[in-house]
Amino acid sequence: MDKICIKGGVPLEGIIPIGGAKNAALPLMAAGLLTPERLILENVPDLADITTMANLLAQHGVAISLETVRGSGNMLKLCAAHITSTTAPYDLVRKMRASVLVLGPLLARCGRARVSLPGGCAIGPRPVDLHVKGLRRLGAEVELRQGYIDARAPKGLKGAEIAFPTVSVGATENLLMAATLAEGETLLINAAREPEITDLATCLVSMGARIDGIGTDRLRIVGAGQLSGTSHMIIPDRIETGTYIMAAAATDGEVRLTGTRIDLVAALVRTLEGAGVEVSATADGLRVRRRGGSLEGVDIMTEPYPGFPTDLQAQVMALMATATGASMITETIFENRFMHVPELTRMGANINVHGASALVRGVRALMGAPVMATDLRASVSLVVAGLVASGETVINRVYHLDRGYERLEEKLAACGARIERMRNAR
Ligand code: UD1
Repeated sequence: MDKICIKGGVPLEGIIPIGGAKNAALPLMAAGLLTPERLILENVPDLADITTMANLLAQHGVAISLETVRGSGNMLKLCAAHITSTTAPYDLVRKMRASVLVLGPLLARCGRARVSLPGGCAIGPRPVDLHVKGLRRLGAEVELRQGYIDARAPKGLKGAEIAFPTVSVGATENLLMAATLAEGETLLINAAREPEITDLATCLVSMGARIDGIGTDRLRIVGAGQLSGTSHMIIPDRIETGTYIMAAAATDGEVRLTGTRIDLVAALVRTLEGAGVEVSATADGLRVRRRGGSLEGVDIMTEPYPGFPTDLQAQVMALMATATGASMITETIFENRFMHVPELTRMGANINVHGASALVRGVRALMGAPVMATDLRASVSLVVAGLVASGETVINRVYHLDRGYERLEEKLAACGARIERMRNAR
């Protein structure tokens, strides 16, 4: 298994290109199932999760080709002219929870879908009840049996009003996609408003879907008989953007991020302003540096978009670990999303968890240590901490990082970081 070795203490200086958003690419790939025509996606990041989704779609009979475009993301061509299987098997779904996004499109297009339940996950139970209830509202018969979500709508789906009791990104995406092929009008109330949903809706509209309220928490969809192919450019990855903002701020460096947008990380920028970090827009992205020398502790609460993203919580904790003063970080989206805390503590951070909140008392310095990655965002927080720490940090189980960060070592090394991947290290 690969490990990553970091010798910390070097301020990052330079330019980091930001890739396409993984969390936009995954639902957009699933949207390829909605049409028999070709869907072309540009700015697709080169990540393990994208390969997992491509393998799943191929298994459903989707013809897929990938063109590597060095420096500007890959181009993915999908054609679901003939769907040969409506079952998403356990072996593929267990690798990635977002596989459940094929459920809505398969059911809407074929009248049948069997998708393995994603099962346990390192960051809490993460159920799929909202996806299932929503599809039932659209007239599907859904049973949970033998570990599978078994959904049928032999006469097609019918538009309905669906009010989500809690905001769910995945359930909004699944039902939005399903509703584009349902008969009549669907109203999604309390829908998630993440930029990735706006990106999906924009692409669906260009495929011929009728959607009002894009960017708001009320989406009105008028079903179409059939959708057509299109070509769509995926938005920049705001979580990758935010992660490198924090890495630059933590090391007291100055970095320019290209191919991204400051509006995608507005909540983070506001928070960091209070911490003494200046993030400003440039023509092709943004620039980050500390305003003065020191970093101040600030309180943070994760919330659905446009609030502070849960996917940046672990990284901001690594940043706050060496701030002056204390920082209270509250996680409201997922249970059990503090698995990075014991690892950061091993590096010298002073963090106490009380329920859904972590009290971080800033320390003067972190020290390198061998640490264990537990999930995607937790593992990158250890990279941020390793870049600041004195001495050597060795991160085990980096396959978690490869799910969501493209050429991480290369991008950081280009800014002066002493970071290396040790392949197949014991
Ligand atoms: C997506 C993102 C993930 C991010 C999360 C929250 C993708 C591929 N993944 O995950 O990176 O951390 O949004 O921003 O885009 N819930 C239910 N029932 C359901 C569905 C969700 O109770 O049927 C709960 C979850 O347990 C969680 C909350 O709703 O507590 C939010 O989850 P959700 O927004 O659905 O996350 P994902 O779509 O899985």
